[in-house]
Amino acid sequence: MSAKDAPGWWKSAVIYQVYPRSFADSDGDGVGDIGGIRARLGHLRDLGVDAIWMSPWYPSPMADAGYDVADFRDIDPVFGSLAEAEALIEEAHAAGIRMIVDIVPNHISSEHPWFQAALASPSAKERDYFWFRPGKDGKMPTNWTGEFGGTTWTQAPDGDWYLHLFTPEQPDLNWEHPVVREEFENILRFWFDRGVDGIRIDSAALLFKDAALPEVTEGEPHPFHDLDAVHDVYRAWRRVADEYEGRALIGEVWMPEVDRFTNYLRPDELHAAFNFDFLGCAWDPALMRACIDRTLEAHAAVGAPPTWVLSNHDVTRHVTRYGRADTTFSFDNNLDGTPVDLELGTRRARAAALLSLSLPGSAYVYQGEELGLWENEGIPAEAIQDPMYARRGHTRDGCRVPLPWSADEPPFGFTAGEPWLPQPAEWKDRTVQAQTGDPSSMLELYRSAMRARRAEPGLHQPAMTWLPLGDDVLAYTRGPDFACVLNLSGTPIALPSEATPLLVSGPLEDGGLLPPDTAAWLRF
Ligand code: NOJ
Repeated sequence: MSAKDAPGWWKSAVIYQVYPRSFADSDGDGVGDIGGIRARLGHLRDLGVDAIWMSPWYPSPMADAGYDVADFRDIDPVFGSLAEAEALIEEAHAAGIRMIVDIVPNHISSEHPWFQAALASPSAKERDYFWFRPGKDGKMPTNWTGEFGGTTWTQAPDGDWYLHLFTPEQPDLNWEHPVVREEFENILRFWFDRGVDGIRIDSAALLFKDAALPEVTEGEPHPFHDLDAVHDVYRAWRRVADEYEGRALIGEVWMPEVDRFTNYLRPDELHAAFNFDFLGCAWDPALMRACIDRTLEAHAAVGAPPTWVLSNHDVTRHVTRYGRADTTFSFDNNLDGTPVDLELGTRRARAAALLSLSLPGSAYVYQGEELGLWENEGIPAEAIQDPMYARRGHTRDGCRVPLPWSADEPPFGFTAGEPWLPQPAEWKDRTVQAQTGDPSSMLELYRSAMRARRAEPGLHQPAMTWLPLGDDVLAYTRGPDFACVLNLSGTPIALPSEATPLLVSGPLEDGGLLPPDTAAWLRF
């Protein structure tokens, strides 16, 4: 696939996240792999995605499901080989699908040769690639809380402490060091040379730390979130991406302040970043409208494409979120045992699909959302593998459960063996096989929406204009002929009489009324 085919493809692409452990297993070990992805590429082609973002597939001890990388230039044997990865890139391109790989610059695996050398001797040059510090009064250098909860320092056998914002198996790199910078620029080139079209950047805002190691104090600059120096790194990465044609850098930037967020999207930095503001937004008309306006305005100010994200491998699946009384996302809101109304959650998720796929910009689909999967909240404690669980009591494994492809019972065609996490028996109605050809299924809704997204000229227009259909209704036009209407009020509403429904997320009521929690795409 040539980048010349679609300059700026990332500005409006639908990007599908493949979580390789859970997509499809080809060798019966219960863990998904590249062979499985290659065998199921047709699903993604039929769905109509523009690109795949592949969560990490590199050699890793899997202390954090692959986000602890031991070698960025190879593939973990559980997933396959580099040759298979190259074959997948080629096959995806042949199917018209671009490939994005996941790079994790904040930390590496404690098994990485750099860290092993650093541990072996305090005088090793590699020691400076990390954050080794003496303790303070016999204790760790700071009392920072890690991103998964818990402390951020572990003592090495020689007495010094090393920093890890995540698990002890993920030592943080020292981004002040030129060797670290150079190494990552070369890793980008390694993958760009293999034809990948983009890089997803993990924990993009965390790289730099205040070397004075102050405690986190309210009202003071944060010692490790969003330090200004990080932007120099992304300017350098942008120069690397610009050595090639049509390559995109996409940041994982969790940032409540939208202007700090869009700093990452300045014209000489990243091309796009995940919109977690939208993902975390409650199912509420005023809040959603404000979030959309905030997003559009902030991105327009820096000339970057907005993105629309509903789920990923770190957050509770949105069918479940939207089926709870509190629909705002937080890492802790599935700890209180609030009941979930899956029917309501599914109805809202269907409407959310039509919303996120019709707003201007690019949209992300997390594997399984096109099947309407919900969070598996019933994973027995002993089966949980997520390191967050031990530190925070919350597990992300519930959204990482292997996909159901076919058949009436687990493993639903995912593997010939035992899936690495248990699948709910109720997913028998949510397999690709069960949904294919059923016009009322989530899968066919996504397929139709993706087709229409390509075909409708309005959806290629850069702008949207709100339609005044009431405070509790999100309605907007894209171009002169197309509109999306989402009814967030508690009662059915009339659709504009001059429009014809093109696609609806649920059946219309008598008289063509749009029911609550339902969306329609209209043509004028
Ligand atoms: C963000 C990733 O999405 C998450 O899965 C991971 O645990 C952390 N970064 C650490 O790499």
